[in-house]
Amino acid sequence: MSTNTIVVGCQWGDEGKGKVVDLLAEKADAIARFQGGANAGHTVLVGDKKYILHLIPSGIIYPDKLCYIGNGVVLDPFGLLEEIELLRTQGIDTNGRLFISSAANLVLPYHKLIDSIEEKKRGGDGIGTTLRGIGPAYRDKVSRNGIRLCDIFAPDSLKQKLEHNRKIKQEYFAGCDDDRADTAKIFDDLQRLAPLFEPMMTNVSLDLQRLHREGKCILFEGAQGALLDIDLGSYPYTTSSNTTVGGAMTGLGISPKMIDEIVGIVKAYTTRVGSGPFPTELVDQTGNELREIGGEYGAATGRPRRTGWLDLVVLRHACRINGVEKIAVTKLDVLDRFSTIKVCTAYKLGDREMAELPLNPAALWDVKPVYRDFPGWNSTTAGIDKFEGLPENARKYLSFIADDLGVEICLISTGARRNETILV
Ligand code: IMP
Repeated sequence: MSTNTIVVGCQWGDEGKGKVVDLLAEKADAIARFQGGANAGHTVLVGDKKYILHLIPSGIIYPDKLCYIGNGVVLDPFGLLEEIELLRTQGIDTNGRLFISSAANLVLPYHKLIDSIEEKKRGGDGIGTTLRGIGPAYRDKVSRNGIRLCDIFAPDSLKQKLEHNRKIKQEYFAGCDDDRADTAKIFDDLQRLAPLFEPMMTNVSLDLQRLHREGKCILFEGAQGALLDIDLGSYPYTTSSNTTVGGAMTGLGISPKMIDEIVGIVKAYTTRVGSGPFPTELVDQTGNELREIGGEYGAATGRPRRTGWLDLVVLRHACRINGVEKIAVTKLDVLDRFSTIKVCTAYKLGDREMAELPLNPAALWDVKPVYRDFPGWNSTTAGIDKFEGLPENARKYLSFIADDLGVEICLISTGARRNETILV
């Protein structure tokens, strides 16, 4: 029996999903992305080669895997072709094994323009988006003004849809001398690209069901993390999609019954990129050290990530809403040199101690973390290949986390390379 696994981020994204998906993909026949867009940056290091994937599932690095982009993804068609070309120059051929849902909504140049205009308008209260047009594209989808992949093959109606979008976006486009607002140019460009997309377009739901019936193993790859979920995250400082397991059902057209195993990815500390509350954030030397040792700079935007200690309140929420039974703990080695490592076990709001997230995420600005201190292990964990081989204090740290969350640890990552991994 094949096991279909879904991988989801349990924090604010950048948990190291790229590496874990790459490892799990070895045993999978197909890998499917279900939400988000080119706001994601999944890094995979194989030998000396580094691949950064934004839209294409990380499984593409293996020459024989099928990769799917579901209807829940917002697809930048120009960005995707660049990504395919970059992979080609790195020796990876996507031909005949990368497929896209005909119902995927497109991120068009005007979405990026609107994203940047809106961020500017928000001034100091900006969300700190990746400026990849994600929010405006999902908004068009929900308000039913979106242009989907299948639309680029129907030129007359595509023209009408683009014209309609030009009219309703006048508030943004008026007086704007930016060719990203030029819908006639977008029409021509999409017409030019259409033949390249035709062989990739498919009904992802049907394809995955067929593979499942044939006993093939499917890996579902989430992007971003639970706290960035549009419904269940730290709203409004979130992305615009469901980053949690539910997003896979609607974003691929599959039944929950197709999923056998839910793996949550947990970085051994916490990071966040962009604005929004972050209760365990460290704006001091320790925070800088975490950033530098962990190489915490955005894979999509290069922005320095905010850093802080592990937050169990966040993780309890993430594990519950996703039904996580197993976690993969990444970047344990980044903590190797800290003499004391803190874990947030609860929040304090005034006199009240809370073990779960507050009802209104705005209160996350005001909560104070309650910490439990763990002695560090002051030795290197890189290259250790068995849980028992880890320093005792590292084992205690990991066991405490797993016990609190009521989950098993299935994998520990101690470096970016494939072999710097402990399979538990
Ligand atoms: P957007 O998804 O570009 O609209 O950005 C909304 C928020 O989500 C911002 O705070 C981004 O920094 C954050 N975000 C989006 N994608 C990622 C990601 O892949 N990793 C980490 N943060 C992300």
